[in-house]
Amino acid sequence: MSPPSSKQSSVPKPHNPRMHTGGKLAFRSRVQDLEDLPGDRLLIGGDDPPSLNDIVPEGFDDVEIEIGPGKGAFVIAATEAKPDTFLLGIEAAAGYASLAATKLHESGNKNGIFLVDNGKLFLEDRVDEAALAAVHVYFPDPWPKRRHRGRRFFTEDVRAVIARVIRDDGYCLVATDNACYAGQIARVMGNAARFERDEAEEQRRIALGPGHAFSPTNFERKYIEQGRVIRRYAFRRLPRRITEPANTGDTE
Ligand SMILES: C[S@@+](CC[C@H](N)C(=O)[O-])C[C@H]1O[C@@H](n2cnc3c(N)ncnc32)[C@H](O)[C@@H]1O
Repeated sequence: MSPPSSKQSSVPKPHNPRMHTGGKLAFRSRVQDLEDLPGDRLLIGGDDPPSLNDIVPEGFDDVEIEIGPGKGAFVIAATEAKPDTFLLGIEAAAGYASLAATKLHESGNKNGIFLVDNGKLFLEDRVDEAALAAVHVYFPDPWPKRRHRGRRFFTEDVRAVIARVIRDDGYCLVATDNACYAGQIARVMGNAARFERDEAEEQRRIALGPGHAFSPTNFERKYIEQGRVIRRYAFRRLPRRITEPANTGDTE
């Protein structure tokens, strides 16, 4: 989807190298001018974003990240539903992150923030092992053209990245309307030795209501109105003592 337009400076901005990994996010690489500052709930990662430890205030045992929160409805609902959990939304498009942060600021909730960065790189180089209770990814860009499939978030290489940062018995929670991409997600995550799909947890979180998993998001609302089938998955991170007993160094 195209990010909302914002005023462009006449001086061209340098490309952010974190949005240039393999050209995948190159289309979002220009940092836009953010003249209406969205309170204190937005961080611009630039080429050297802060680490998770630098972002999360003292006192939160449970930290969850949403990759690609768009206009931020899920993160905002989650800060409301789970006041003892800290929520970080990592959004590649600065315009969306700014909108989301403005709404979060208006909510008054301090247990969440939005960061403009490449979510996959952030998990790789800014998050400690087992630091997260959950990673949420809702309606990731499906990149339907075959030649663009390498741009998808759920490629084989992301599995080890997610497995490293989620703590034992934590969850990777995913929703998509795209049947083909759902198949790829189920293959990438469902076949992984370090995850197992947990259908009871999917139902439990849905029953808990907005802000616990999957809902609400802008794309979810749009697709429900269109009558599309939405697939929702909860992948549980299996305990390290079972999956990595000898610490073989295998990061799969
Ligand atoms: C289809 S939208 C879904 C937005 C939101 N999750 C929802 O359901 O309404 C996908 C979002 O993911 C963001 N995105 C794509 N790749 C990303 C990445 N590697 N890191 C962070 N955000 C990313 C896009 O900028 C876009 O806002």
